[in-house]
Amino acid sequence: MKLSGTAQFDPRILKATSVKSEETATEKDEPNALNITAASSNPKMFTLPWELPLAQWPKDLLANLPRGISRHVVRFVHVGDEIYAMKEITSQIAAREYELLRRLQKLELPTVRPIAVVTGRHTKEGEPLESMLVTKQLKFSLPYRALFARNLRTDTAERLIDALAVLMVRLHLAGFYWGDVSLSNVLFLRDADAFSAFLVDAETGALHTTLSVGQREYDMDLAHTNIIGELMDLSSGKLLPDSVDEVEVGNRLLERYHSLWSALTDEEDFSPDEMWKIEKRVNKLNNLGFDVDELEVNTAPDGKHVLVSPRVVDAGYASRKLLRLTGLDVQENQARRLLNDLDAYRASTWRDGEDLEIVATDWMRECFEPTVRMIPSQYRSQIEPAQFFHEVLEHRQQMSEQCGHDIPTALAATNYIKKELPKYNLDAKALDEINADADAGVVDERSIYADDDAMNSGGASGDATTGEQDESYDPDMDVDNPDDEYDQDASVWAQ
Ligand SMILES: Nc1ncnc2c1ncn2[C@@H]1O[C@H](COP(=O)(O)OP(=O)(O)OP(=O)(O)O)[C@@H](O)[C@H]1O
Ligand SMILES: [Mg+2]
Repeated sequence: MKLSGTAQFDPRILKATSVKSEETATEKDEPNALNITAASSNPKMFTLPWELPLAQWPKDLLANLPRGISRHVVRFVHVGDEIYAMKEITSQIAAREYELLRRLQKLELPTVRPIAVVTGRHTKEGEPLESMLVTKQLKFSLPYRALFARNLRTDTAERLIDALAVLMVRLHLAGFYWGDVSLSNVLFLRDADAFSAFLVDAETGALHTTLSVGQREYDMDLAHTNIIGELMDLSSGKLLPDSVDEVEVGNRLLERYHSLWSALTDEEDFSPDEMWKIEKRVNKLNNLGFDVDELEVNTAPDGKHVLVSPRVVDAGYASRKLLRLTGLDVQENQARRLLNDLDAYRASTWRDGEDLEIVATDWMRECFEPTVRMIPSQYRSQIEPAQFFHEVLEHRQQMSEQCGHDIPTALAATNYIKKELPKYNLDAKALDEINADADAGVVDERSIYADDDAMNSGGASGDATTGEQDESYDPDMDVDNPDDEYDQDASVWAQ
């Protein structure tokens, strides 16, 4: 058994032009001995029953958390103090997804964190078993079905879509083509009154230097179709409120995506005496949660106009500021809310002129920490402290309005814990139903190989499970960047 310090894969994988060709080329080269390739070591990984198919792992190792629908067997496993998500998959696809996730993490994009690839698995009788991709379970995250099972607000679908639009813009700005956008491939974290979306399944993705308009539009088109289908499915399972129009929600994704994309990337035209407008543009971007690293300012050929376009925009403006001030690492809207509370604290304690870092330390000690310490232990794995704080502030506001006077935070927190927090509980029956649904999507791997054979002999169109792209995609539509060939899996590795 080997635990290597960095990712080491068969160099042929790096050169492969598609996942399918990797598979035929290397199937016979599957390693014989168990091999765990991980960025950092967790000795407990050695104690797991790798010789059993994942679906047969003993219950006491598993964490019973909700999962989204998937074609592969996925389980959450306790490994020491951590919970890992394990996905049984071919070694080539596992290696590819692991590398891609590592690269997306380096770009600070919101994705699950890759932990390891485990290859060379065999049963006690020596039968080969599929490889495993291991990622860190994203704490406090929920698959969309679990959100709807809790009967949340009627605008939940819209809020999820808004979060997904932000995720798509961030991924596309970084040059990531996803190729399999769906609600099942995203995890959601509560983020104050909104949600944040994280990529969970990168199997079909590819990272390029930049994406063409054609690539982006194709990705969004797939997203649009998949999401409407998923919402219709929820609706037929009576999980979607009747008032929600699936097609309208699907269209909202495109509208949100396009308006955010243009706010972040459009070139604006100013006259030289309107330079104050540049500051306005930067403020607008900051309010959308994006940081402007650089502004490119050019004078138009007539000399009477200034063309301004923001360059390198990073999400997380408020969360970075809060992290700097307090060390709290939270979602963007939560950070905004916490920063507002910090401002209110500064004003109410007459410390406007004082260094914000010092005021922030006192705010943590006097306001934030005593409140989040009140979270009952049975809810600590269900609600993030920053989300709890936000919700207590909201609750305090409502109570104050009802009573007509200020309510102390501790009293609001006690009342919130009693009246509202139980809504976070997903009952055991609902959880079992969600996970049964998730498993119902698992495809027998043998039938996938059979499909592959059909495709190899010039048969059916692409299957996302194999990492192949749908042949209906036409690279010629790559209108604004003809050199940027689409199906270049090799380029993913070459960069
Ligand atoms: N790191 C993680 N943290 C939390 N949940 C996870 C994680 N990894 C996987 N999951 C859960 O498992 C589900 C299935 O994972 P994933 O989408 O990667 O499987 P898949 O079989 O590749 O899916 P597909 O059918 O789209 O190919 C996800 O929807 C998610 O709910
Ligand atoms: Mg998936």
